[in-house]
Amino acid sequence: PILYLITPTYYRLSQIPDLTRLANTLAHVKKAHWIVVEDAYHESQRVLALLNQSSITYTYLTKRESKKARASNLKGVSQRNAGIEWIRQHHIPTVDGVFYFADDDNTYSLELFEEMRKTRKVSIWPVGFAGGRAVETPKVENGKVVGFSAWSPEREFAVDMAGFALNVKVLFDHPNMKFSYNTENSFQETEFLQQCCTRDDLEPLADECTKILVWHTRTENPDMGFVKPQDVKHLMKFYA
Ligand code: UGA
Ligand code: MN
Repeated sequence: PILYLITPTYYRLSQIPDLTRLANTLAHVKKAHWIVVEDAYHESQRVLALLNQSSITYTYLTKRESKKARASNLKGVSQRNAGIEWIRQHHIPTVDGVFYFADDDNTYSLELFEEMRKTRKVSIWPVGFAGGRAVETPKVENGKVVGFSAWSPEREFAVDMAGFALNVKVLFDHPNMKFSYNTENSFQETEFLQQCCTRDDLEPLADECTKILVWHTRTENPDMGFVKPQDVKHLMKFYA
């Protein structure tokens, strides 16, 4: 199957370094289409230049985050919805496809992308450093997910955005499925998956969830002494 990798992104000092690292990872992934959705009104030269320099097939969209989502402190909602809507409009239904939400600041092993190609409906795997733990993972017994070792494990799907993938046919079987703009923070994954799936549908990958293939790393803001982020607009001329 082809892989659709949906990446929300937004301007901050670490945006281009983070996207550089992700682009370098994705350059090794075959049969993939990178859907980068910037939280902005207009395309930016810096992101466009980065995408054009990479060898990856991509689509660059912009979608400003909704006020509702921002008020609930949710990140990436409108961007991920724009990404799945793009797939609904452009995917050729006779082709097998899998989609995954790849945030711009996580760390991805190359093996992860090959694993997720196995997704028939919905697949799941451990995520390192997520939910305030060393690892958040589904509990697997006899090849079935029976629960979660995770923050708020009573959630139907106690999984970080980086810990699951879906077959694109799910988007056509559930044409209204999307991320909610007013869900409680940390419930966006479970509320999204509840629209299409039950726990019983989960296909555990990464050797029955015994391997960590993705980490919820986060990039520290660069230390620039007393220089404030808004005072480094001149950085932009280095990127375009
Ligand atoms: C955690 C989860 O891993 C995210 O998938 C989830 O969206 C997020 O919580 C949440 O609170 O909603 P975290 O590291 O806290 O992740 O979030 P970020 O990495 O800062 O943001 C998630 C994605 O949204 C990133 O790709 C980021 O570039 C993007 N984003 C963030 C925007 O597009 N706009 C923003 O204002 C902030
Ligand atoms: Mn993050």
